[in-house]
Amino acid sequence: MTITDLLLFNFRIFEYSQIQFDDGINVIAGANGQGKTSILEALALFALGKSVRAKQDMDLIRFGQDAAQLRLNLLSKSKHEQLAIKVMQKGKQIAVNQVRKNSISDLIGKFQMVLFTPDDLEMVKGGPEERRRFMNQYMVQSSVNFIQELRTYQRLLNQRNILLKKHQYDAITTWDESLSKSGAKIIFERGLFIRKINEFAIERYRQLSGQEEQLTLNYRPTVDGHSLSDITSQLEEGLKRNLAKDKEKGYTSIGPHRDDIVISIENRPAARFASQGQIRSAVLSMKFSIMDYFKNVIGEYPVLLLDDVLSELDERRQSALIDMVHQTQTIMTISQSSGMQGDEWGASRFFKVAHGIITNER
Ligand SMILES: Nc1ncnc2c1ncn2[C@@H]1O[C@H](COP(=O)(O)OP(=O)(O)OP(=O)(O)O)[C@@H](O)[C@H]1O
Ligand SMILES: [Mg+2]
Repeated sequence: MTITDLLLFNFRIFEYSQIQFDDGINVIAGANGQGKTSILEALALFALGKSVRAKQDMDLIRFGQDAAQLRLNLLSKSKHEQLAIKVMQKGKQIAVNQVRKNSISDLIGKFQMVLFTPDDLEMVKGGPEERRRFMNQYMVQSSVNFIQELRTYQRLLNQRNILLKKHQYDAITTWDESLSKSGAKIIFERGLFIRKINEFAIERYRQLSGQEEQLTLNYRPTVDGHSLSDITSQLEEGLKRNLAKDKEKGYTSIGPHRDDIVISIENRPAARFASQGQIRSAVLSMKFSIMDYFKNVIGEYPVLLLDDVLSELDERRQSALIDMVHQTQTIMTISQSSGMQGDEWGASRFFKVAHGIITNER
């Protein structure tokens, strides 16, 4: 998968900018606050249908403007695709190959990326929401059904929580059947996903650490089960069992919105025992496992987006990352002060960004 060019119009700091990417390594350099992350954010928007950092779409629109427009040209399995997004004060419009589409799900699955930012180190030490975001971001990209299921579940869950807060308990039991059906699908799919990427992550971690240490990713749902129907009934029962507690708290205490992944090294939870270096290797292995996963299920590597991460890594991990970078199209930002130029790892195109103006340096 290769991005050929990106056009930004009134997106964040960019008034009007076009970038033509090389199919190898693209480096975007600039001082702080010039728009580097915004370029990666724009690209990720095409993969996820929403921003990786904005709470609301509106924030993406350049200050004082009515709408932001973005257009991405890409080559996927030698097929040309054009994706377009218009972000308005209220809602988004999308087009695929110049045909207007009604739903964001029409965009999903056309473009896959793996994004790596310094914040990702929180995946090990941070709260479970970090790890749920990790699962969601990458599962959404490989399955339109998954994004729809997440939305359905979220809607049902919000309604149940409203009923709990309003003390309208009679209506709750009627919600629980659909809530558990939807929730169980998410749990089932996440279980499969984590098992799959665990295989890749184990291997990647060994390569990275150069040691026989074992990294394990264990999916931890609030209810378990072997089959979809098993999980569905477990969840429905669980909701019933926890109803008294939920009434007291005013929210739903079990379901996929409370899922977690336990990341362990040599069977010990990394959040409690891992060193800085082990944490970095674990996070990098998880990201690489996603690259392997997409290669496996889609047949090509996704585009790799790196936001100022090289400076976070030591030489060994830098060189592992650079090996990976050479296998797929990569777009990476570096902050100018970091001193790294990109020549040493064979970058093929250089951009400079200053005050939202992008110039092609080489
Ligand atoms: N909607 C918007 N309209 C105009 N400018 C915006 C908007 N949203 C953010 N900005 C500005 O865009 C600038 C660039 O932000 P961005 O995060 O892309 O910078 P960066 O180059 O990644 O910086 P750093 O090196 O610090 O990470 C910021 O100065 C911010 O104030
Ligand atoms: Mg940035």
